Amino acid sequence: MNHFLDIHKTDPDALEAMIAAADRMKAARGDRPRGAPDDEQPLAGRMVALIFEKPSTRTRVSFDVGVRQMGGQSMILSGTDMQLGHGETISDTARVLSRYVDLIMIRTFDESVLAELADHATVPVINGLTDRSHPCQIMADILTFRELRGPIAGRKVVWSGDGNNVCASFLHAAAQFGFDLTFTGPVQLDPEAEFVGLARKAGRTVEIDRDPARAVAGADLVVTDTWVSMHDSQSNRERRHNMLRPYQVNAALMEAAGPQALFMHCLPAHRGEEVTSEVMDGPQSVVFDEAENRLHAQKAIMRWCLDV
Ligand code: CP
Ligand code: NVA
Repeated sequence: MNHFLDIHKTDPDALEAMIAAADRMKAARGDRPRGAPDDEQPLAGRMVALIFEKPSTRTRVSFDVGVRQMGGQSMILSGTDMQLGHGETISDTARVLSRYVDLIMIRTFDESVLAELADHATVPVINGLTDRSHPCQIMADILTFRELRGPIAGRKVVWSGDGNNVCASFLHAAAQFGFDLTFTGPVQLDPEAEFVGLARKAGRTVEIDRDPARAVAGADLVVTDTWVSMHDSQSNRERRHNMLRPYQVNAALMEAAGPQALFMHCLPAHRGEEVTSEVMDGPQSVVFDEAENRLHAQKAIMRWCLDV
């Protein structure tokens, strides 16, 4: 079963093939209207369930549009509206949904929910974000980098800020796509040691540097994300902001990186917090290309899952 649960759990050749397929499908669409179908309709007759236990704009809309462009049908389900949110077990939910739909995408809190769903579903399951990772986002980011700069293998990516779920998927991708990663942020918010170890074991250089200006020097890509994720307690907000303020991506930091560096953010961004508007709207920012590429990358992921 082709579940898409995490980048480090997916074969590197399959990942490369998905990026190439996304690129090909994006080019094939040209500039036709968003609602127009693709020439190829690999999801014709297929039903996709999109389950959200947390808010979403990009993931929700890009999956829904992607399914429709490929000729399939989708239903968006909120976790709280399902019996899942009222005590029905995940394994029973998995078995029931597998009788109705061909593919399940879920955004949830603890990754054990995703794992249990995948264990008991008889259809493929896609990780649409957990507290611990966000693989679909990083597939879109790899596609975006490749379009603008060529393959990401051997490049230097710098993560500035909270070593969160999106940072984790970058570490997984460093191992699988062969790039180096420097983390700069406060020690309390370091990425998980297990994921740092995984990238290092794959032969990649992973550095941790508390000095953001030194860390970004010569970067091909600078990335940040919100200082307070959906799973973080709001009661720590002030403390997190104080710790993370030195790691804001602003014009001075992008200048320290150099003109070759691209800037990425998975969005939603909090302008004036982790990133300034000057950077978000500046010449190095590719944040809206990333957002668009969620659509193309996920179409390729869904095709891989269904082998169509
Ligand atoms: N980047 C991302 O996953 O955005 P949403 O939370 O809007 O889906
Ligand atoms: N780290 C963020 C990503 C949102 C797409 C969160 O988990 O809230």
